[in-house]
Parts: sequence; C-alpha cells; structure tokens
Amino acid sequence: MHKTIAVLSGDGIGPEVMEQTLRVLDAVAKKYQHNFTYLEAKIGGAAYDTYSEHCPDETLEICKKSDAILFGSVGGPITEQHQPKWAGCEANSILKLRKHFQFNINVRPVLIYPSLAALSPLRAEKISHGIDILIFRELNGDLYFGRHEQRVEKGQRVATDEAIYDESQIASIAHAAFQSAEQRKGKLVSVDKANVLATSKLWREVVNEVGKKYPDVELTHILVDNCAMQLIIHPAQFDVILAPNMFGDILSDLAAALPGSLGLIPSISLNAQGFGLYEPSGGSAPDIAGMNIANPIAQILSATMMLRHSFNLHNEADAIEHAIQQALAAGGRTKDIASSGEVAVSTCGFVDKILDVMR
Ligand code: IPM
Ligand code: MG
Repeated sequence: MHKTIAVLSGDGIGPEVMEQTLRVLDAVAKKYQHNFTYLEAKIGGAAYDTYSEHCPDETLEICKKSDAILFGSVGGPITEQHQPKWAGCEANSILKLRKHFQFNINVRPVLIYPSLAALSPLRAEKISHGIDILIFRELNGDLYFGRHEQRVEKGQRVATDEAIYDESQIASIAHAAFQSAEQRKGKLVSVDKANVLATSKLWREVVNEVGKKYPDVELTHILVDNCAMQLIIHPAQFDVILAPNMFGDILSDLAAALPGSLGLIPSISLNAQGFGLYEPSGGSAPDIAGMNIANPIAQILSATMMLRHSFNLHNEADAIEHAIQQALAAGGRTKDIASSGEVAVSTCGFVDKILDVMR
C-alpha cells in the first residue's frame, strides 16, 4: 500500500517525538511491505519563523494532497507568550486546521495500561477492573466558533462569547459515537448542561432522536458537572462518552489525568469524508524539548490510530500497540512514567525497545 502522510512536527518536543515515530512507521512499512511518503510542513511557532503566521497556506496545501495528517504539538514557553511567535499560536494552528478541513469528530481514548496502573492518581481499587474510555468530542461548533467580542458598555469593559449549535452538527458526532458504542459495550453517556443552556437542550433532543436508530445502545444523559465528579469517583462506569466542544475539551483533560501521564494519550480528528488528523493529547512541553527525554507513546499511538482509521491497516496497528505493551512490560520507562528508583530510558531508547519487539 502506498500512502502520503503530511508530517506537521511543530514546536517543543514535537520534532523529536515525531522523528522517533517515523522510525516506527518505517519499521512497519518494511515488515508489511508498505510505502509511506512523508511530506513535512511547518506549523505553529516553527511556521511563524518562516511565514509570519502559524498555519500558512503552504501547510494547508500539503495536508490537502496527503492521505492523513500526523501532527506533533505547537506552542512556546509560558514566559514568552507575549511574543508574536507564540501569541495565539495553539489556537491559530489547531483551530484553523479544524475549521479548514471541517474536522468535527474528535476521539480521545483514555486507557490505563495494566503495567502502569501505579501511575494513576486514583487508588488501585478504583481502576482494578481497568479503564478504557472513548471520548467523542464535537469539534466545529459551540463556544469555540461563535462570535467572540469585547466592547465598552457604560464605561466598563464587557465581553461575550457566543455558543452556537445546529442540529446537523450534533447529529453528525452523535452518529459517530453511537456507531462506536454499538461496536463496544452498547453503552453511551451524553454530556450536556440541559438544565441551563439552550444549546444543551437542543443537544439532548437531537442525541435522543439519533439514538432511536441505535436500539441496541443504552443511552444515558449526564450533566457536565456531575460527569466531572463521576470520572474521578467511579471512572469504570464509562465506556463511550459524547460531549459538546467546550465540555469535551475540559472533560478530556480531566480524563487524560487518570492514566498518570499526558504522554500516553493520542487524539483523532475526523471529518465527514473520513479524512483525519492524528496528534498527541499533550502539549509541546518546551521545558523538556531537545533533551531526548519526552515520552513518545502518545505520538506513536497517534500514528497507530492513523494506520487503523485512515488506512485500515489493523494488523500493523496491533503490532505497534503490542510492541509498546511489551516494551513497558519489560520495564522500559521514560522519565515521566518512571517511579523513583527506576532508571529512565531516553525517547530514542524507548523506541529502540519497541523496534526490538517488532523485529
Ligand atoms: C485541545 C486544546 C485546544 C482546544 C486549544 C489548544 C485550542 O486544548 O485540543 O484540547 O481547546 O481544543
Ligand atoms: Mg484541550
């Protein structure tokens, strides 16, 4: 199989974990006789240096002629946020790509690896039956893409952010979540704030309507504040969660804390045509950039998701996931997931272990 992949490494640890991820993809290509062409394109602060913007047209063009986008991370150090290179960098890069390619479906898996259960901030008994949650987050509507403005009224500054949803946006993500729930445990929890918000009332109505087409899926609704609490006190009750854009943003970070390191969680953004962008859930971590200590797992799993969802290469994806499990089971730990006393391996060293298993 021949596939073209747009590689947007970005800033911070992005380039180094991406380089290691491409080693894993190359190994897969060799073993299973595929041919992957990587088209590198600039994004974030790295793009700003060349183009004076965070997501230039050149990058959009490269993405357009590719079969999938593999995204690293963007953003600069907190102390330098006022510089034009970093101001608005994340939103300008990520939101522009989402809007441009109409990525409306975001999927964030939250999985606790048995070998890493001790890393979780939760007590062992809470996760003893394992945690395997899929969060479906709507990505094109809500507070994110309504009007944002600041003005002066009666001598004081006032700001408004408009939240807006139309029923087709809600139906589209709801179908995706129901289909996934059907394949998994037949349970879907939809998140809203229908006791207050008009967008949430519509959300609940449309999710109920879509649900009629999936009689085998048990649908429940939960208010977002309760959902946040339940994710902490009883996370094992969840399988597939469906959430609007803003609540999904917050809940997916909350859930990402459960496995103990953000370096473990990938994120998938898809549009109605099935075109996808794959990225780690964590940020660019500028404080550890260039040190060869970052955890490459989230980036590698992002590539694994790409193989599965964009290229239908399930055996290849399984092989990588298995190799990661084996590398962990054999004690391979980057610094973020090493416990005290354990010797941490480098980014590159961890990938060496993965490649050893795959050979
Ligand atoms: C995410 C991020 C983005 C979001 C930011 C960087 C705009 O937090 O992907 O979750 O809010 O969606
Ligand atoms: Mg977020």
